[in-house]
Amino acid sequence: MRILVTGGAGYIGSHACQRLLRDGYHIVALDNLHRGHREPMEILKGAHPESFEFVHADLGDQSQVLQVLDEHELDTVMHFGALAYVGESVEDPLWYYQNNIAQAIGLLQACDQSRGGKGIERFIFSSSCATYGDPPDDMIPVPEHCPQNPTSPYGYTKLHMEHILKDYANSRAMKNNPIALTMLRYFNVAGSDRTGMLGEDHEPETHLIPVAINAALGKRESMSIFGTDYPTPDGTNIRDYVHVEDLVSAHVLAMNSTKQGEVEAFNVGIGKGYSVREILDAVKRVSGVDFTIHDAPRRAGDAIALYNDPTKIKAKLGWDAKITDIDEVVKDAFDWIKAHPNGYAS
Ligand SMILES: NC(=O)c1ccc[n+]([C@@H]2O[C@H](COP(=O)([O-])OP(=O)(O)OC[C@H]3O[C@@H](n4cnc5c(N)ncnc54)[C@H](O)[C@@H]3O)[C@@H](O)[C@H]2O)c1
Repeated sequence: MRILVTGGAGYIGSHACQRLLRDGYHIVALDNLHRGHREPMEILKGAHPESFEFVHADLGDQSQVLQVLDEHELDTVMHFGALAYVGESVEDPLWYYQNNIAQAIGLLQACDQSRGGKGIERFIFSSSCATYGDPPDDMIPVPEHCPQNPTSPYGYTKLHMEHILKDYANSRAMKNNPIALTMLRYFNVAGSDRTGMLGEDHEPETHLIPVAINAALGKRESMSIFGTDYPTPDGTNIRDYVHVEDLVSAHVLAMNSTKQGEVEAFNVGIGKGYSVREILDAVKRVSGVDFTIHDAPRRAGDAIALYNDPTKIKAKLGWDAKITDIDEVVKDAFDWIKAHPNGYAS
């Protein structure tokens, strides 16, 4: 397989490139570098000069994407490229719909025209547990058949893309030219690659673990917990944190298991929830720093508890999280951020 990785210069996309390159695949990473970084692309090119290319482009640039697909004879797409902040999507929904849907349709059109009009063979889409919104109590842990009712424009971009992709897969099946489509609904992704080459460098950073690490390292004075009166054991939200390497493994399994004509959706999360306070305690343990935490009011749209029911992905893909100790996840993230105080720029 020869794979286009959109959003390849981002946090998860770069880790996916690294794993796929180690597995011997030919990879082209495409990213507009709006949120991604050139440095991981240079690191991967240095390690895999023959089998890796980086293309600086927007995924909505249909003619350039088509040229890349054809020139490199790519047959598989892993589509990570998206804007990915819930709060930002509430403030600027049109930007999110434009980027995550309209631009992604440009990508899909190029995918459809590639290989002399035959189209690509496989598509793996980064969806999100945000498509579930705030699931009812009897749907926690969350199975794939939980009703999808997003509470943010970001969540809707992911849900709409799932529908668009299913319609596209259906049209390919009707033309006797089936595609293999897998939609992976990630829970919270954390950690970094264990060789220390790649890490998480978001600007702005809104993810709980790196924000807490930044507080522990003195890069910010303190941090806030948004909502301490939720109906959970310690009053804070509960989330499922999947290590980025385990997440990437799910992509490899999905790519190799989903057959032409199949359309599959899998949740990717370890199946255990940690509260915000439990995560902050883990960061304090790992860093050895008792940083300042403020209690703040709830944020609109935050689900009380979101953690995965991994039954389906275990049964069908044989996937299971290997790194489930939260201190290990936090330590991987901590080590990279500590070694790169200014992110990739350092
Ligand atoms: N990080 C998480 O916890 C999480 C959870 C659920 C889903 N996801 C999804 O996983 C994917 C990757 O997330 P991430 O955390 O690595 O984010 P990221 O911001 O680090 O990576 C996304 C990359 O996509 C690129 N990009 C965005 N729009 C583009 C466009 N129009 N053309 C070309 N490149 C574009 C950005 O420059 C960035 O490098 C996203 O689709 C996100 O919605 C992430």
